[in-house]
Amino acid sequence: MIAKSILPIAKIFENTRDILKKNNINQPEVEAKIIIDYVKGGNTSFTKILSNTKIQQINTIIKKRLKGEPLSKIIKQKGFWNDIFYTNENTLDPRADTEILVEAILDDYNSMKNNNINFIDLCSGTGCIGLSILKELPNSHCTFIDISEEAMKINQLNADLLKLTTRSNFLISDLLTNPNLNMNDNDFIVSNPPYIKSSDIKKLSFETLHDPLLSLDGGMDGGNYYRSIFKQLSQTNYKGHLYLEIDPNVRDLVTNLALDNNAKILYIKRDYLKLDRIIKIIFI
Ligand SMILES: C[S@@+](CC[C@H](N)C(=O)[O-])C[C@H]1O[C@@H](n2cnc3c(N)ncnc32)[C@H](O)[C@@H]1O
Repeated sequence: MIAKSILPIAKIFENTRDILKKNNINQPEVEAKIIIDYVKGGNTSFTKILSNTKIQQINTIIKKRLKGEPLSKIIKQKGFWNDIFYTNENTLDPRADTEILVEAILDDYNSMKNNNINFIDLCSGTGCIGLSILKELPNSHCTFIDISEEAMKINQLNADLLKLTTRSNFLISDLLTNPNLNMNDNDFIVSNPPYIKSSDIKKLSFETLHDPLLSLDGGMDGGNYYRSIFKQLSQTNYKGHLYLEIDPNVRDLVTNLALDNNAKILYIKRDYLKLDRIIKIIFI
């Protein structure tokens, strides 16, 4: 652990990084920087030394991290797109792969940047997808939907901190079943639903298992949520785009659901590891 003595921040950073590295933490440099920034707090870019209390705080974080707890769950924050999002035991930590969903939507809507665009972030968790889009499209409005009241509290907190509450509606709902929802008011729906096969849950890394089961388990074949979403949309007169995060395992299942439900696949995009990750669909 780091000795409690007056050390320059640069030295504390090196020590933290080296401890993480020695203990096989994947991105020791990145995590050490996040830890130091977190402990330093905001607006302290000129701070050159840390108090003993702050060093103690770093040691506590390192201790938990070395036991396998994800850093984001320890400090209750995770960077996504251009912001930091609060997260906790009730929310899935935002993932870098999901940024591809934001990127795909902005590619489509940037040319209409100032239009009044309404959309739904379905299965919103921390709200990272919808809030990132709201920030980029200044006249857009988002309805955030999640079944978990606890997750919705975090979504609301993030909206509040990013000053996006006035352009947000928050609905606790089992997918699209809330009677207050008018689908045709929306230009697009974006969703990253749970899609892990139930039998694969136990194979997930110890770190991923810190995310709530409700955010991961997609049923026997991983497709339960996609089936419900298509079924519910087919019962409305929704004519618009649907952007879904997928896993390569559910790609064919989702493709077939689209074909069976009068919808057309516009593209499938891959993630940084060249795995199918995003599917864009239009209901006609
Ligand atoms: C994979 S997480 C996605 C969270 C966030 N959108 C993201 O990409 O980081 C799935 C979310 O779906 C929510 N969820 C699970 N079942 C649901 C349901 N029946 N209706 C609405 N949301 C649900 C979970 O609470 C969880 O927040």
